[in-house]
Parts: sequence; C-alpha cells; structure tokens
Amino acid sequence: MGVAIRLVQAGEEVFIGSRKADKAERAAEEIKLFLEDENIDNVFGFTNPEAAKRADIIILTVPIVAQQPTVASVKDYVKDKVLIDATVPLESTIGGKPTKYFSLWGGSAAERTEDILKGTGVKVVSGLNNICSHSLMDFKEEVDCDCLISGDDDEAKKIAAELIEKIPGVVCVDCGLLEQSRTVERLTALLISLNIKHKSRKGGIRITGLKKN
Ligand SMILES: NC(=O)c1ccc[n+]([C@@H]2O[C@H](COP(=O)([O-])OP(=O)(O)OC[C@H]3O[C@@H](n4cnc5c(N)ncnc54)[C@H](OP(=O)(O)O)[C@@H]3O)[C@@H](O)[C@H]2O)c1
Repeated sequence: MGVAIRLVQAGEEVFIGSRKADKAERAAEEIKLFLEDENIDNVFGFTNPEAAKRADIIILTVPIVAQQPTVASVKDYVKDKVLIDATVPLESTIGGKPTKYFSLWGGSAAERTEDILKGTGVKVVSGLNNICSHSLMDFKEEVDCDCLISGDDDEAKKIAAELIEKIPGVVCVDCGLLEQSRTVERLTALLISLNIKHKSRKGGIRITGLKKN
C-alpha cells in the first residue's frame, strides 16, 4: 500500500493488483481517502494478472509464501517488462520472527522470481526491500532511506531507479548483479531488529561516500 500511495502522489498511473478485483478496487478507493483527495484519478484496482497486463513496470510486494503463486499468475503479462521485487524471506511468514531471514535454495527471493519467470524476457530488479511501510505511509514526510537495487540489466535498473526516486527522499544505489539481493534482502531483518531494539518504526539505511554515476 505504501509504495502505491507514494507513486500515486508522484502522479504515476498505478494499477493495484490483488487475487480479488474488488479488494484491489477498495484499496484504490482507500488510497484516495488516505491522501484526502477525491480528485485523484490515477489509481485503479484489478486482479494481479490484469494489473500486470496494464503496467509497464511491475512491483511485487507479497510475503514470500505468496511469491510463487503470485508470480506464476502474472507470467503471461511480463514479457520484456521490468519487475521490481521487494520480497523478503522473513521467518514471520512461516511462523517465526520477523527479525530472522531464511535462506532459499535459489539464493534470494528476487533470484527465485527470475527463475519462475525464466523464458519470458522479463528483467527482474531487486529493490524497495529495505524501505519500511511506516515511512512510506507517512506521506507528508520524506523517506529517510536509500533504495539498494540490484539486477543483471543496467537499463532495467535505470528504469526502476527513475520510478523509485519519485518517492521524496529516496536515493537509489546500484549494488550490481541480481545476486547482490542475497545480502540486501537480509538487511531488512536487521532493520526490523533495529526498530524493535530502538523502539522506532522508521529505521532505514543510507550508503555514503560513493561517487555519483
Ligand atoms: N511491510 C514493510 O514494511 C516491508 C518493507 C520492505 C519489504 N517488505 C516485503 O514486501 C513484501 C510485502 O510486504 P507487506 O507487508 O506488504 O505484505 P502483506 O501486507 O502481508 O501482503 C501483501 C499482499 O500479498 C497478498 N498475499 C498475502 N498472503 C498471501 C498468500 N498466502 N497468497 C497469495 N497472496 C497473498 C495479499 O494480497 P491479496 O489478498 O489482495 O491478494 C496481501 O494484501 C514482503 O515480502 C515483505 O517482506 C515489506
């Protein structure tokens, strides 16, 4: 919801996906109410396949247990598109703690998405994993967090970064190949631990000292 809110605010046309069209339509209406602006006309709700069909850039934001069925359900509509994967394999989705990451056979969740979509020509970019929903939902404030992106296609990373940087305060940092998402996804578990330890809700991450490309 948080990512959608920020992109709607930025003037992007947003198609929210859900397993149920009416749930997605309700989410679109909720965003208008949340942003206190009835005149918003750039957010719509559809089933996941229909949303993926209409979108140029797809953003995957589901728990790891929902990754396989969700990704498989949009497989026919991702050809040559950019898919930004925010999935983090946290133990909370399998009855454990959100402060614990669990390992996947394929390396990272983003690599798993790429594997499920093999042969479609989709370009998977791992990103948005470290930006917490509290920061995104606080839509009158800038987000104090970098977005670490990784992927095997430079042009796709550029497209993803251009979109993500429409969220005020967010700077994208290109971390290299998609395999780097193995480390980046794990950082989310650390950030959740930090938030718990320091009794905060908006812990983020900033990378310093790099030259701007
Ligand atoms: N929340 C954060 O602060 C945050 C920050 C960074 C990364 N992430 C990562 O982003 C992903 C989404 O997080 P979230 O907090 O937005 O998750 P969420 O609210 O629990 O779930 C998002 C949507 O996924 C669908 N879903 C949930 N369980 C499902 C299932 N068993 N099968 C199929 N679809 C299911 C639901 O959509 P429908 O019912 O509408 O189909 C749900 O509204 C996770 O991988 C999380 O680790 C989250």
